[in-house]
Amino acid sequence: MSEPIDVARIGEDVPLLEGIRTARAIRRLRPDPVPRELIRKVCEAGTFAPSGGNRQPWLFLAVTEPERRAWIAERYRTAFRAYIAPALEAAKAPDFPEAGRRNMRAALWLADHLHEAPVHLFVAGWKRRGEAQGQALFPCIQNVLLACRAVGLGASLTTLHRGFGEECDRWLGLPEECPTIALLPIGWPVGKHGRPPRRPVDESLHWERFAARPPAATD
Ligand SMILES: Cc1cc2nc3c(=O)[nH]c(=O)nc-3n(C[C@H](O)[C@H](O)[C@H](O)COP(=O)(O)O)c2cc1C
Repeated sequence: MSEPIDVARIGEDVPLLEGIRTARAIRRLRPDPVPRELIRKVCEAGTFAPSGGNRQPWLFLAVTEPERRAWIAERYRTAFRAYIAPALEAAKAPDFPEAGRRNMRAALWLADHLHEAPVHLFVAGWKRRGEAQGQALFPCIQNVLLACRAVGLGASLTTLHRGFGEECDRWLGLPEECPTIALLPIGWPVGKHGRPPRRPVDESLHWERFAARPPAATD
């Protein structure tokens, strides 16, 4: 029998920078349930993000009921397939970067299996002066992703539900002043956390002035 999870302690010993460097998008998730207390813990990490005027505009909405996840997944799949179609066409070219193909395959896999992710965590935010505050929510979202990494949960950042965003927000019962911005499918990972492919920092870091360099390769 597996040990019960000590929610207070889990993830507390992952060094911050190592966690950051190994928080790749995990889209293949086991269907096993995730304790609510653990979802609460990763959302709490989200609440430690900075926000303009410390207004803390975020709101988390976790969907776990299978029929409700199926409702979301069905619409996400349709939105995703429409979005990815041109890229799939482009990927047929022999010189299309292999890393791009891999990324697309993983995203397609998620679109086809979203209903299996045990937690669909939406991050929404209160508008300010009638405007959605995306920039105020992404630091919070990144904290949630990093906290998932720390406690061993798999997660990825998606935004394509915005293709049916208003319908989704009303269905979730959210008021118009608080739209969702991201949907994080969360669950226990099939694979492992690890370093995602990234260009070396020195290709992006400049000192004092921008120094033109040859364009960075995409593969
Ligand atoms: C603003 C934003 C929106 C994204 N939307 C989606 C999405 O709708 N679906 C998806 O599968 N991935 C989405 N991603 C995830 C990226 O595709 C992912 O970060 C990229 O594949 C890198 O993954 P890696 O960290 O494992 O290398 C989004 C990422 C960002 C920053």
